[in-house]
Order: sequence, then structure tokens, then C-alpha cells
Amino acid sequence: MHPLLPHPLTKTEPLAQLQALYQMAVELSALRSLERVLDTALRYCLELTGSQFGFIGLNTANGKALDVVAIQGFHPSRPFYEHNHLIPLRPNIFARVVLENRPIRSEDAMTDPTRVGQPKGHPPVGTFLGVPLRIRDEPMGMIGVANRPESYQDEHEQLLLTFAAQVAIVIRNAQLYEQLTATNEALEQKVARRTRQLEQARDDLAQKAAQLQRLLTETVNVQELERQRIAQDMHDGTNQLLIGAMLELKSARQRLGRSEWERAEESLESVQHILRQVEAEIKRVIYDLRPPTLDALGLAPAIRRLAEQFEGFTQVPCRVMVFGEPARLPSRVEIAVFRLLQESLHNVSVHAAATDVEVILAFAPRTLKLTVIDDGRGFDMAAIYQNSNGHLGLIGMKERAESLGGRVTIQSQLTQGTRVELIVPVPTDETNR
Ligand SMILES: Nc1ncnc2c1ncn2[C@@H]1O[C@H](COP(=O)(O)OP(=O)(O)OP(=O)(O)O)[C@@H](O)[C@H]1O
Ligand SMILES: [Mg+2]
Repeated sequence: MHPLLPHPLTKTEPLAQLQALYQMAVELSALRSLERVLDTALRYCLELTGSQFGFIGLNTANGKALDVVAIQGFHPSRPFYEHNHLIPLRPNIFARVVLENRPIRSEDAMTDPTRVGQPKGHPPVGTFLGVPLRIRDEPMGMIGVANRPESYQDEHEQLLLTFAAQVAIVIRNAQLYEQLTATNEALEQKVARRTRQLEQARDDLAQKAAQLQRLLTETVNVQELERQRIAQDMHDGTNQLLIGAMLELKSARQRLGRSEWERAEESLESVQHILRQVEAEIKRVIYDLRPPTLDALGLAPAIRRLAEQFEGFTQVPCRVMVFGEPARLPSRVEIAVFRLLQESLHNVSVHAAATDVEVILAFAPRTLKLTVIDDGRGFDMAAIYQNSNGHLGLIGMKERAESLGGRVTIQSQLTQGTRVELIVPVPTDETNR
């Protein structure tokens, strides 16, 4: 029994009752867990009314039953509880408390005309007092106490009703608190998940930024090297040839001055020969800079030409297959596809040790697909992606494809060859050209 409670309570001790009620309200309001609130509240109810048995029932969400959420004075087995904890909200002696939203008393619940059949194993219920638990005058459940040795009096009813008003508020608070805790936990989990995603996204972005930085540096370096190479080519090839041509012209003039017609003729032929070489050399340099076939004839012929060059250079057969209706595309698309093939074939020649290469160009109304398949030694892509230092070819391809709204897929396995596939959307707007 609660130490503050004189038992049984009588009308002659209103101050003690008040103190007890106050004390209980304070203690209850400090409890947070719904289960403990219910147990403590019910314990007080039994003590307040000198009852031996009691329960608290709360309306189920669908409003069709009372769910017995606390019992005292009887310890049901788990199966018993599972089977009987819902009391249908029909006008029986218990549920009427809620249905009629008023206290109900009985001298003997077993013989009451509105009795409920007691489930087997339930202790007999004799005297009974039930009061509604109300929130803003609406019943949310009930407290039932029973088996007080003498009958329940008005004062017990009043006391239990007053106490129930407090308990209802505390229960509602505990329910709200539990809801809040559950919502908070869900929210925290959500935030944690989102934070992890954001961290991942941030890391990915940082990695991408670093790659782009390297790509940019490398591109600038490559540009510089390319200029150097072209300058060297022009100097070594064209310039030397032109100097040769000038010397031959000079000697042709001298020979003409000396009327050595035949030898002058020889010199002029030599000049002609050298100028043809200059022309070929200039064509080669121009081709390297920007393949004229690409601008003049489009992708398919330029790709065939590149494949032939690859074959000539590596002695590895390189078949080209073209599907669909070859169409002219914006030049930035054509050059990107061409460069991707150049880079892929370069990789094949340097890394693959392939014996066969296949290039497939497929024109569709909205997309263009280029596939390069080799039967070479393949590679471990995860390893390359993890450490892309110094390997910028594949990354460059991906970036270039993405800048056109397309994408590159690379499939490779050790000893199983490599397949590089580029898909780019074909712009339909003529102004895009
Ligand atoms: N067709 C291929 N067959 C086998 N290995 C390949 C092939 N293509 C790429 N690789 C492997 O992938 C790596 C990365 O290729 P990537 O083109 O990105 O860089 P790289 O060729 O090494 O250097 P670069 O930046 O000059 O292109 C290569 O070093 C090579 O190990
Ligand atoms: Mg490469």
C-alpha cells in the first residue's frame, strides 16, 4: 500500500485524500513510459478504493473494443491475455462505462443483468466500480476496480472519478511522449541515413573534382606537347624539304645560266618531287590535327580510315560495321566519337595485346552508338578506378561523353578482352550544329 494513503479512505479524512491525490498526480506526471504510468495508476486505484482486482482499458484505434492494457490482482498467463485482452464495446457491465460515458457500479458483477461471461481462469468478479477515462469529456477508456469486500460507495466513485481525470491526462501525455520518441527516433535514423548519403555524395564530388583537375592539367600538357610535336614535325619534315627544294631551284638556275639544259631539267624534277613530299607531309599533319575525312564525309568513312591505319600500324585486324542510316551529326558530336575511337584503339594497341578488334557504329533516330571490342588481355576496372593516377584516357572518355549528354560503359575482365561502348543522344535541333 502507498505509505501516504490511509486505508480505507473515508469522508472524515478529506485532507488526507486530497494530499494522496496530489501526491499521486505528481508521481504519475513524472513517469514517462506508458506501461509504468498504467501500472502505477492502477495500483493507486486499488489502494484508493480498497479493491482486490482492477484493470485499465483503452479504446482501440477503430473504436470497437477496449484493450485491457493493465491488470492488477490477477496475473493472467500470456495465452490467456492474448486471447482475452480485447473487450468488445457492447453494452455490457464494463463497456457501458465507456459507451455511456459515466461511472457504473455493481454489487455483484456475476449476477448483473449486463454481465459479461467470465473467461475460464478469470477470478470471479463480485463488487465492481468502473469510471471513464476522459479527455475533454470524451471517453478514451476506463478504469475498473472490483472485489472490494464491502460495496462501493459514492465517495469511492467520486474519488476514482477525480483520480481518473488526472490519469487520463497522464496517459495521453505518455502516449504523446511515446509517439514523439518514436517519431524522433525515425527522424534521427532518417537524418543519419541522409547524412551518410550526403557524405558519400560529397566524397564522390571531391573525387570527381580531383579527377577533373588532373584531366585539365593533363589536357593542357597534352596540348603543349602536341604543339611541340607539330612544330618539330614541320621543322624536321617540311622545313628541311623546303630548304632542299630551294637548293635544287638554285642549282637549276645556275645550270640554266650555264645552258646545261638537261641537268637543269633534272634539278627541276627533283624540286617537283620534293614539293610532292611537302604536300604529303602537310596533309599528314593536317590529318592529325583534324581528320579532313571527318569534316568532308562524316563519321563512317573517317572511322573506316582510322581502322585501316590501326591495322597498318599494329597488324591486328580491325573490322568496322555500320548499322542504321549513316547521318551527319553536329561536328562536336562527330569529333567526340572519333576521338573516343582514337583513344580506344590507342589503348588496344598499347595495353591489350589483342588479335582481333571490332568497331560497330550504329545510327538510330535518337542515338548514336559506338562499340569497340577487343579480345585482348582485359584489365581489372576496379583497380584502375581506385587509382586513376596517370590513367586519364578512360576518364577523359567518360567526361567527354557526359558533356554531350551521353555515357560510356566499359566492360573488361582479365584475359576476357575489353568492350567500350559509347552512347550519345543525337540532337534533333538543327541550330545545334
Ligand atoms: N583495351 C584495353 N585492354 C587492356 N587494358 C586496358 C585497355 N584499355 C585500358 N586498359 C587498362 O586501363 C588502364 C587505364 O587506361 P587509360 O586509357 O585510362 O590510361 P592509360 O592508357 O594508362 O594512360 P593515358 O592517360 O595515356 O590514356 C590502362 O593503363 C590499362 O591498364
Ligand atoms: Mg589510354
